[in-house]
Amino acid sequence: MIRVFLIGFMGAGKTSFGRLLAQELNLSFYDLDHSIESKCHKSIGEIFAEKGEDGFRRLERQVLDELSALEDVVIATGGGAPCFFDNMESMNSLGTTIYLAVPNALLLKRLLVDRAKRPLLKGKTDEEVENYLSMLVKKRLPFYQQAKFEVEASTIKVVADMKACLVP
Ligand code: S3P
Repeated sequence: MIRVFLIGFMGAGKTSFGRLLAQELNLSFYDLDHSIESKCHKSIGEIFAEKGEDGFRRLERQVLDELSALEDVVIATGGGAPCFFDNMESMNSLGTTIYLAVPNALLLKRLLVDRAKRPLLKGKTDEEVENYLSMLVKKRLPFYQQAKFEVEASTIKVVADMKACLVP
């Protein structure tokens, strides 16, 4: 039985690479944010606006628990998911966690382009996004680094590297 959790900062490519990994290994793919949106029939932005970040984090944990019961799956999590409650411990005990690491400069480039999609970045100027990013990456690294594996997601062999993590 394979259960993979992909973790990493917003813009790391968890969803895109997760889909590719699932395809290559013939596993089902789930995206935690999309599963939250389908369960609530609301966008992540609407959930943040209505319930605040605390409400979102509680929902996120609930849906993470639901997805964590599935087998033969690749699950792409949201950037904050490993950093709340004991989510990281839970993922580590139930599956193989892979941290997709991306240099801050590349994350920044991607996030400046689609900041509107992300409630934590919405309304921030370029400079504010840059400062927020470096503050948040520092705060979150200790959680991300608890992953069983770390893969450099800015290289062309990212899928092969992720597959190598799953060899028994
Ligand atoms: C968040 C990341 C988002 C989403 C929410 C909060 C975060 O997911 O869960 O906007 O706290 O980093 P992505 O990492 O898929 O953008």
